[in-house]
Amino acid sequence: MANLALNHVSYTYKNAEKAAISEISQVFEEGKVYAIVGPSGSGKSTLLSLMAGLDLPTAGEVLFAGESLDGLDLDRYRREDISMIFQAFHLFPLLTVVENVCFPMELCGIHPKDAKPRAEALLEGVGITKEQMKRFPAKLSGGERQRVAIARSLASNAKIILADEPTGNLDSANTQNIIEILASLAHEKGYCVIIVTHDSEVAETADVALRMRDGRLRYD
Ligand SMILES: Nc1ncnc2c1ncn2[C@@H]1O[C@H](COP(=O)(O)OP(=O)(O)O)[C@@H](O)[C@H]1O
Ligand SMILES: [Mg+2]
Repeated sequence: MANLALNHVSYTYKNAEKAAISEISQVFEEGKVYAIVGPSGSGKSTLLSLMAGLDLPTAGEVLFAGESLDGLDLDRYRREDISMIFQAFHLFPLLTVVENVCFPMELCGIHPKDAKPRAEALLEGVGITKEQMKRFPAKLSGGERQRVAIARSLASNAKIILADEPTGNLDSANTQNIIEILASLAHEKGYCVIIVTHDSEVAETADVALRMRDGRLRYD
C-alpha cells in the first residue's frame, strides 16, 4: 500500500539553535484527508518538505510504502509518487491551461497526442470548461487556477497529494469548492490528501486534523 509514514522524524536547519520539528510519528493512509494545522513557525512547511523528499530528516525516517526515502531515488519519488499543490498555484504562465496539465504527463513519457485528451478529462473533472482550457492562467480567477493546479497534480499516477495552504489565496466559496474536490479525490478515488493550513474551516472538514505547536504534533 502506497502510504506515507513518519517515524520519529526530527529536523534541525543548519546553524539553527533548536529543531524546527521534533519526534513526529504519524501514518497517512489512502482514502483520507489529513489537515496539519498550526500557527506560523510551528514547522508545517518543514514537515511537508520532508514528506515531499525535498530534504531528509536529521533524525528518524520518512517511509513511502514501507521504504525509507533515504534509500529511494528522490527525483523519481517526487515525479511519480507524490504531487504538490501550492498557495500561489505555480502554473506556467506561458502555457495554456490544457498545456499546463499535459506538461507533467509528457515529462513521464506520455505522447502529446495521448496527453491532451487525458488533460481535458482531468480539467472537466474539476469543472474547467473547454473554452477556459485554451486560455492562459492569467485569464482565470484564483479559484479556477487552483482547480487547474489540482487537475495537473492528478496528471501523474501519484496517489499522495501534498498541499501547502491550497486555499490561502481564496475566498470562502472557492475554499469550500477546493475542499470538496480534495475530499472527493480521497473518498471516491482513494487518494491520500495531506493539507497544511492555518485555516480552521479546512481543518474541521478533514478526516484527521493534526495540530502542530513548536515543531511537535499535539495529540488531543
Ligand atoms: N531555511 C531555514 N533556516 C533556518 N530556520 C528555518 C528555515 N526555514 C524555517 N526555519 C525555522 O523553522 C521553524 C519552522 O518553520 P516552518 O516549517 O516554515 O513553519 P510554518 O510552515 O509552520 O510556518 C521556524 O522556527 C522557522 O524560523
Ligand atoms: Mg509554512
